[in-house]
Amino acid sequence: MSVEFDQSRLTVVDHPMVQHKLTIMRDVKTGSKQFRELVKELALFEGYEATRDFPLEDVEVTTPICTTTAKQIAGRKVAIIPILRAGLGMVDGMLELIPAARVGHVGMYRDEETHEPHEYYCKVPADIDQRTCLVVDPMLATGGSATAAIEYLRSQGVKDVRLLVLIAAPEGIKAVLDADPDVRVYTCSVDERLNENAYIVPGLGDAGDRIFGTK
Ligand code: URA
Repeated sequence: MSVEFDQSRLTVVDHPMVQHKLTIMRDVKTGSKQFRELVKELALFEGYEATRDFPLEDVEVTTPICTTTAKQIAGRKVAIIPILRAGLGMVDGMLELIPAARVGHVGMYRDEETHEPHEYYCKVPADIDQRTCLVVDPMLATGGSATAAIEYLRSQGVKDVRLLVLIAAPEGIKAVLDADPDVRVYTCSVDERLNENAYIVPGLGDAGDRIFGTK
């Protein structure tokens, strides 16, 4: 089945180091400790791509040699928003890249019959509407919780939302991009499809269980 979506709002981070690390994560023999480390590293690499368009401004800096004009990020405020539970695994890598970022937590589920999003836990910075929100979750499967989280952030007045996942199913990408006309999606891989249990194929299994060793 071919799934069509707006490619212009999708970035696939296909750097060789990223692909190499992702393959180790997929391996069923990789244990929780290494898996957690790799989630953190890939989050940092992906955050690097997702912040590529941040504007810069000139500042004066004095080096040991002379005073010069150099660049700094121009007043961009960022919030990292992990979708509970597996998104927590990506927070440390993102904070290593953007130490001044605030972290908000979003726990969402979508009612399977009504398809209405329900929040069971949401705590975000008070000035969330002033921040670029980097929503993180390792797996984008059906897109249900990501769509609900993005809807919640829009309801709080957030203008710039970017979704960062490590592996995405085409169905999930389409669901997220169709539901929100402005969100951008970043992924390290677009996998084949979802199976009958809504697991990504080939995927890497349950990311939350592999991060937290709950299986
Ligand atoms: N969530 C996961 O952790 N893995 C999948 O394959 C799909 C959703």
